[in-house]
Amino acid sequence: MLASVKNILEEAKNNGYAVGAFNAFNMEEAQAIVRACVKKNTPAIIQVSEKTLNYAGDGLIYDVVKAVVDRESASIPIGFHLDHGHSYDSVIRAVEVGLDSVMIDAAELGFHENIAATKRVVEYAHPKGVSVQAELGIVPYLGEVDQNPNWEEFMTNPLDAKCFVEETGVDSLAVSIGNAHGFFRERNEPDWSRLEEIHKLIPDTYLVIHGGSDWVNHKVAEAVKRGVVCFNVDTDLRIAFNTVLCQFTHDKCTIIDPRTVMSDARSAVQEVVEKKIEMFRHPEK
Ligand code: 13P
Repeated sequence: MLASVKNILEEAKNNGYAVGAFNAFNMEEAQAIVRACVKKNTPAIIQVSEKTLNYAGDGLIYDVVKAVVDRESASIPIGFHLDHGHSYDSVIRAVEVGLDSVMIDAAELGFHENIAATKRVVEYAHPKGVSVQAELGIVPYLGEVDQNPNWEEFMTNPLDAKCFVEETGVDSLAVSIGNAHGFFRERNEPDWSRLEEIHKLIPDTYLVIHGGSDWVNHKVAEAVKRGVVCFNVDTDLRIAFNTVLCQFTHDKCTIIDPRTVMSDARSAVQEVVEKKIEMFRHPEK
């Protein structure tokens, strides 16, 4: 069932585990995520990006995800969130279409502008019962930042995080502790003491790790111990999906029923999601 993102995160926080927030752009990916959750009896969040809203159409992707959840998730709580909203307008679009959780990513704007942009979104969203995630510090992308960066320049400053949360009233915070999006090479070891300090200063804020695709068991366990309740995962799902598509176009291009390809791609994504949600829920196993 479609459930409040905030409740899903609160449940994870109270019980000492993390949930996966998985990007989906079509019916098959939404089904893959929901089917993995049902099989593992574990909640998760489906998230869409601005690019997906533009690709599919706001209302259509909302209806597709909602229909998949309504029809296939039984009683497993599945949240629905806007990932990386880069403007106030994107947030409004997402809320108007029905999402109850949004990210405003104004991290690139600098500290004070980030506070102002996030506060504006919180003031709009909270009265509507919509929860808000922001990013403080930069979680880099390949192509936007040099590899081997000076991580000190990118990572979240704990005292700034406290001030940011107090000023904005934001519910969740995407932190930068050496994590990175996609294929960008992460810091050898995340900055655990920084994360610990952040959690100590803002214990009620849901901490989120973006760039969760390449996070492995022991790192997940360390992060969860220090207050992380959510890992965003996109790249690994794209790889799983696209690997199947590429394989068919190269090796099996005589197959003319696209449903054969799409159902294999869907199964490949489901397999990845099953492993991730198991790891986020029981990282020590
Ligand atoms: P990855 O693509 O590295 O999994 O990161 C996803 C993400 O953080 C989406 O917000």
